[in-house]
Amino acid sequence: MFFLPSHIFYHIIPFHLSTTHYFNLLIQEMLKGKKIVLGITGSIAAYKACLLIRLLIKQGAEVQVVITPAGKEFITPITLSALTHKPVISEFFNQRDGSWHSHVDLGLWADAMLIAPCTASTIGKMAHGIADNMLITTYLSMKAPVLVAPAMDLDMYAHVSTQENLKLLQQRGVHIVEPGSGFLASTLEGKGRMQEPEIIVEELIEFFARREGRLRGNRILITAGPTYEKLDPVRFIGNYSSGKMGLALAQECIMQGAEVELVLGPCSLPLPHSSLLHVTRVESAQQMYDAATSLFPACNAGIMCAAVADFTPDTCADEKIKREGDQLVLRLNPTKDIAAAIGQMKLDNQKLCGFALETHDAMQHAQEKLCRKNLDMIIMNSLQDAGAGFQHDTNKVTIITKGQSHSLPLQSKKDVAREIINTFIP
Ligand code: CTP
Repeated sequence: MFFLPSHIFYHIIPFHLSTTHYFNLLIQEMLKGKKIVLGITGSIAAYKACLLIRLLIKQGAEVQVVITPAGKEFITPITLSALTHKPVISEFFNQRDGSWHSHVDLGLWADAMLIAPCTASTIGKMAHGIADNMLITTYLSMKAPVLVAPAMDLDMYAHVSTQENLKLLQQRGVHIVEPGSGFLASTLEGKGRMQEPEIIVEELIEFFARREGRLRGNRILITAGPTYEKLDPVRFIGNYSSGKMGLALAQECIMQGAEVELVLGPCSLPLPHSSLLHVTRVESAQQMYDAATSLFPACNAGIMCAAVADFTPDTCADEKIKREGDQLVLRLNPTKDIAAAIGQMKLDNQKLCGFALETHDAMQHAQEKLCRKNLDMIIMNSLQDAGAGFQHDTNKVTIITKGQSHSLPLQSKKDVAREIINTFIP
């Protein structure tokens, strides 16, 4: 048992903490040099294709647009060719010199075909092989994987024929980027609007990551964020952890093709959009312990990034603690050490990495934790370093393994995450 005056050590925060929008989801080199055929069809969402092209090009991809005649009613080929630095293909023949546009060549050239926006009509034609425009003939000749981002009104999307056609395409290996819900051009609201370009690009990156990522086949447990230890219905003991480092690690693992089991304490940051990501949301250290220890046996590696509360109130009051008397004394009990428990469970074919956030004698404390918790690696950061630790978008860490240490410069948490993952799972 421990007795603690309420004003020291811990940050006691009211519920509903909100954080600013943080996560930049566009990452790394998975699309570098990739050749993408972007099919554009006749939907008002065609205007979003401009942003999509810019994002793809920013990621290092080469984009060749193939547009349907109806697509050209919504967006001009001049805009698209200016963005892609390539002539836009729409007709079977070049009107000016009569040369033939080879859909077969495009089918061989591409690393992926992405049709965004894709109308109900094009989905139907794809499902039934109605090759009456250049886009469908390109699709039918495509050797590379195909992704489709539907865009239509809610009733058209929900219609049984659209759904059956989508099912058929899925069965044939086409990847469907689920449309979003919200305000539609028809002024109706519902499911059918084309997914946002950032999410489409993420799905494309993930698609390649699954096929080519260095870590495909790995399943990695990550604990992240703070834990909240409840005092009464409106208060808890917590800490300043934002979850940014843990989410950056999760994102990096996904982008390298690994499945991630993310056990996440209270965190209001947007999560990576990925089917490789499985999230278990928890609040307390005990809940994090239960989730992490039950998920770890199915994983081949674990990264304990969470800032777990070391102490939890002995009791949680049923009613709000009233402001009475001169002092509030809290009785706290130690929480279970999740990293140490997993360190005990760890088999020879499993690896474990922990974090150590220190304020003094950092190296000594970190090395002691590495041994005590049976970790294979520990990431040390010190609150003495400006820009390192809680809340920042940057971090300055030292990667410590048994017998070696390697200090990295101050850099973005995204770059730190990549260095950690590449060192942890070489
Ligand atoms: N950790 C954990 N469960 C706890 C406490 C810590 O899994 N109850 C993990 C953290 O996620 C981190 C590592 O253990 O990977 C070290 O956490 P840290 O707070 O630095 O160390 P503690 O063991 O709590 O020791 P101290 O607070 O005395 O520095």
